[in-house]
Amino acid sequence: MTDLYAVMGNPINHSKSPAIHTQFAEQSKQDIVYSAMLVPLDGFESAVRDFFKGSGKGLNITVPFKEQAFNIADQLTPRAETAQAVNTLKLLDDGSILGDNTDGAGLVSDLVKNHQVELASKKILVVGAGGAVRGILQPFLEQEPSEIVIVNRTHEKAQALADAFTSFGSIQAKPFDHLDGPFDVIVNGTSASLSGDLPPLPESVIDADTVVYDMMYGKEPTPFMQWAEALGAKQAIDGLGMLVEQAAVSFDVWRAVKPDSKAVLTALRHQLGGV
Ligand code: ATR
Repeated sequence: MTDLYAVMGNPINHSKSPAIHTQFAEQSKQDIVYSAMLVPLDGFESAVRDFFKGSGKGLNITVPFKEQAFNIADQLTPRAETAQAVNTLKLLDDGSILGDNTDGAGLVSDLVKNHQVELASKKILVVGAGGAVRGILQPFLEQEPSEIVIVNRTHEKAQALADAFTSFGSIQAKPFDHLDGPFDVIVNGTSASLSGDLPPLPESVIDADTVVYDMMYGKEPTPFMQWAEALGAKQAIDGLGMLVEQAAVSFDVWRAVKPDSKAVLTALRHQLGGV
């Protein structure tokens, strides 16, 4: 019987996950159907339980349900435990539900595998301190950078995150006006690009060796990418690759198959109107 998978969120109509996973399944000859499910804001838990009572075998979870998914899971992977958010649920053979978080692994994979950007021994600046940033800190620290600095509009949130992750490696929070650059890698994990805004970073964080990464993506480079490029950064990368790579890690968690993510990324980039 065909196994069912889906992404649950609210809103969900612009999700690229069904297209990505359908291509993964075709490539790897996996007999699955993957759909997008709009879930009412007060109906997440019952939607998950109903899905797994039928032929449902796995779910991706997106805004605003990642924390609820964390609470529903019977077991958590260590990276989901530290992220305190779950973007992947898997029905296990004994009927229990495993919660995982593949966002950080997806970002690391996009940087290291697709863009040959090493993180080991590098000085890294992470901008933002919301759920998206919480999900990437442990996988980043596992790459053993020389240090991670977190900066956020609300400094207290950056400080709380740095305190929470200090046992995993060298990480500290700084206010914007205390940043002493340049950095090797800068990741924008804020939602500022959505409103066309730029985080108030000093220009000194960028030099000709700096690689910047915006977790957002669009048809055009984001304001943050354009700002970094204008300052002569070595490379500016958007978050489309992270989207595809986190999906590839989820697919592997569910099916024990590693899809050809690069082919899917190329196709998606083409659809988006890029090169
Ligand atoms: P997500 O789950 O996507 O991370 P979030 O938890 O709401 O969403 O976090 C959004 C992040 O973007 C926060 O770090 C937020 O800063 P605050 O903690 O000060 O709210 C940051 N952010 C949003 N809009 C921003 C802007 N215009 N300039 C700078 N930072 C912004």
